[in-house]
Amino acid sequence: MVPIKSSEITPEHIYLSRRKFLQAAGLLAANAALLAACGRQPVPLSTGTTTPGAVPALGEGTDELGNALTSLESVLGYANYYEFTLNPNGVARLAQGFSTSPWQVAVGGLVNQPKTFDIDDLRKFEQEERIYRMRCVEAWAMVIPWFGFPLSRLLKEVEPLSTAKYVRFETIYDPDNMPGQKDRSFPWPYVEGLRLDEALHDLTLLATGLYGQDLQPQNGAPVRLVVPWKYGFKSIKSIVKIDLVEEMPQSLWLVTNPREYGFWANVNPKVPHPRWSQATERRIGENGRRETLFLNGYADEVASLYPDLDSRDWYY
Ligand code: MTE
Repeated sequence: MVPIKSSEITPEHIYLSRRKFLQAAGLLAANAALLAACGRQPVPLSTGTTTPGAVPALGEGTDELGNALTSLESVLGYANYYEFTLNPNGVARLAQGFSTSPWQVAVGGLVNQPKTFDIDDLRKFEQEERIYRMRCVEAWAMVIPWFGFPLSRLLKEVEPLSTAKYVRFETIYDPDNMPGQKDRSFPWPYVEGLRLDEALHDLTLLATGLYGQDLQPQNGAPVRLVVPWKYGFKSIKSIVKIDLVEEMPQSLWLVTNPREYGFWANVNPKVPHPRWSQATERRIGENGRRETLFLNGYADEVASLYPDLDSRDWYY
């Protein structure tokens, strides 16, 4: 995000040939069967339009507003993950083979029952499918069928204390295997935060997969946050630590560039980024631009979290 070159926001040119499409669809069906066999069949969110019990295949299903899903190839092929590279088209190649097993997530801080979860413990939480719009602060967007479970379920298990006001998340620090972490201009590891009530909101998801497959490294394997009404940089990848804290966490972006990437980062078409408008967005895989939706289209669900919605403060 810093620095941003317009050349980095290039149009997506990845289209599946019909043959590839059919191959991929077959693969997904096989994957869905495997998931069911492991007892991990995702439960669809009522707002989506996929068949109950089914993982949406390529070209099938929409979000609750009727938006088509972004193709699997685009979701895998175009990613923001600065621990690997600043080039969204280069992440998948550099992240290939990044080891995400074994993996543990330590949950602690201001809680009664601190606990370290193996990734397999996290997969035992009942997994649901959630089709969410993802809006990057750089004005590109996707529609992604995640699966995972609400973060609130994990937080309830550790029993937050009444002094806990925020949740702080941390990505793995592994500079030997993440070339971008050798870049000293960022205060690694990547850190993000939410206010506790945002973290407990039912839309806030801990995702372990998408399109019926386990997450790939470039999308934040093996577990990442998804907060669909906020700009994408809040949706921190490859989490190893979650702490309940009293003070607002100092995210990587607050430390690096607080003028451009604030703590709240709620999507608002009327509040421009200091260097570009947020009024429209480029949906990956589509030509032209669409109007950005207030709170990314989730205002009915989350507007009540924020008093005085007109205050600019909530949107950067
Ligand atoms: N998490 C970490 N650890 N490092 C990152 O660079 N990029 C963020 C977010 N999470 C990022 C991260 C940004 S800017 C966006 S838009 C989303 O991840 C992109 O998620 P995706 O690549 O899976 O679409």
